[in-house]
Amino acid sequence: MTIEQEIKKRKTFAIISHPDAGKTTLTEKLLLFGGAIQVAGAVKSNKIKKTAASDFMEIEKQRGISVATSVMTFFYRGAHINLLDTPGHKDFAEDTYRTLTAVDSVILVIDSVKGVEPQTERLMEVCRMRNTPVIVFINKMDREGQNPFDLLDELEEKLFINVRPLSWPISSGSTFKGVYNLYHKSLMLFRANQKASEDDVLPIKDVNDTLLDEHLGKYVTQLREDVELIEGVYEPFDKSLYLDGLLAPVFFGSGVNNFGVKELFDTFIEIAPEPKSRDTDSRKIEPLENKFSGFVFKIHANIDPRHRDRIAFLRVCSGKFERGKFYHHVRLDKDLRFNNPASFLAQDKNIIEEAFPGDVIGLYDTGNFKIGDTLTEGEQMMFKGIPSFSPEIFKELINTDPMKTKQLEKGIEQLTDEGVAQLFIQNGGNRKIVGTVGELQFEVIQYRLQNEYGASCKFITQNISKACWLTSKDKLKLEEFMRFKMNNIAFDKDNNPVYLADSQWMLDQMIKNYSEVQFHFTSEFKMDLVA
Ligand code: G4P
Repeated sequence: MTIEQEIKKRKTFAIISHPDAGKTTLTEKLLLFGGAIQVAGAVKSNKIKKTAASDFMEIEKQRGISVATSVMTFFYRGAHINLLDTPGHKDFAEDTYRTLTAVDSVILVIDSVKGVEPQTERLMEVCRMRNTPVIVFINKMDREGQNPFDLLDELEEKLFINVRPLSWPISSGSTFKGVYNLYHKSLMLFRANQKASEDDVLPIKDVNDTLLDEHLGKYVTQLREDVELIEGVYEPFDKSLYLDGLLAPVFFGSGVNNFGVKELFDTFIEIAPEPKSRDTDSRKIEPLENKFSGFVFKIHANIDPRHRDRIAFLRVCSGKFERGKFYHHVRLDKDLRFNNPASFLAQDKNIIEEAFPGDVIGLYDTGNFKIGDTLTEGEQMMFKGIPSFSPEIFKELINTDPMKTKQLEKGIEQLTDEGVAQLFIQNGGNRKIVGTVGELQFEVIQYRLQNEYGASCKFITQNISKACWLTSKDKLKLEEFMRFKMNNIAFDKDNNPVYLADSQWMLDQMIKNYSEVQFHFTSEFKMDLVA
């Protein structure tokens, strides 16, 4: 098969949701369709239950599970699917954001009872930054959910994206009858506690077909009214708008009942994008280019603390990756080769000989990789779009065992390379401020420093509400600001100045008073400086 044919077959995507909306359930149903697993329950939920927040064995166990489910590769109707897993726990949200840099599209799961939830909004923000095409699945229609029109309005208002329903629910909860497919004009009947089968799909002429009256009884009137309204209000579905990330098709169903999942997945296969071109600091890279290139978006420490090796997850962006060939590590300016690159099929890891654009491979690493690193066949360029986001919780790291200072330094360096947290340095390295998106990370850091590096530490909460990266065309103004706010200035690991604002109010003041200084909420600007 040619590279072009390989690329055309690939769909690399993630399922995202606010915890508990049904991501794991949907993932499992898709894997069942793809034949990657045989029985329900084979995919362990990659989430740390709230009660286990300080149960470190649980964290360790979860780390094991999340390596195995990081990338799930399977085949469905001729497509080569790479489904990238994202952690369910909100404290690991940054991991999810980074994974989203490696996909070409997403399926967003919404709970029909709860509607748009906080994590849904944040995830969509990241999708919008990259114009990632989104398909929405409104789940749990077997519960008494919100009115579907209200849900659509809420999606548009809170997620800032236009939506277009492609299926429509007939009632919900105990009187849920099924969904009407607006695209293929068919009716799928819901039978509680029974697996959906092909027989449940009624091909009909259109919404006026008398078969509908037979099967839906009094609910048919509402359906006809709804369909008329939808056709009047919404433009016909425009695939190109979806591919540009401007329009999200919406499906309704029930993951746990396997209802509406097949039509979601079939449409996904039909419309979701194949691997796309990607921006670098010097030019656009097309997947079809002959030369291999890719970037690391996730690093996973191995679970065995005696072996400090890690797995770096690399997304192939162009050309063909081959096992055992030397590739150029751009940041280190060094050639490396990988003898045991792994691909992942649900629970199994396999050594692979080659990989194509859209694929994600696991590279065993002894400390060469940082998140965002680029591999090429020699070209000096770095992929854009793997930013660090401004953390939300800040604590000073205090060494509590001076005999183990070196171990602590090395440990925190490596853990932050892995993206567990961000490190900000003050006073020439004497003060280390660790920033994360969740409390749980501090426990993870403390535990791993002790367990893997033999170092012990404690954390002191800091009164910081936001970290902003600083740039300015006016060097003097920037220096003036940094002098003025000396106690709130730190440096990230690449030595970029960062302003640690005590409060949103103070930050707003500074933005107003120092108009010559730019305050960035993600580290992405670094690339713009290079470009
Ligand atoms: P997540 O990965 O997004 O966090 O969600 P997950 O799939 O684990 O689903 C969260 C809960 O919602 C699970 O129940 C799951 O069974 C349930 N669920 C998923 N889809 C549907 C649906 O279509 N209808 C209904 N009524 N429930 C659904 P749980 O009690 O937390 O876990 P479990 O014991 O059932 O596994």
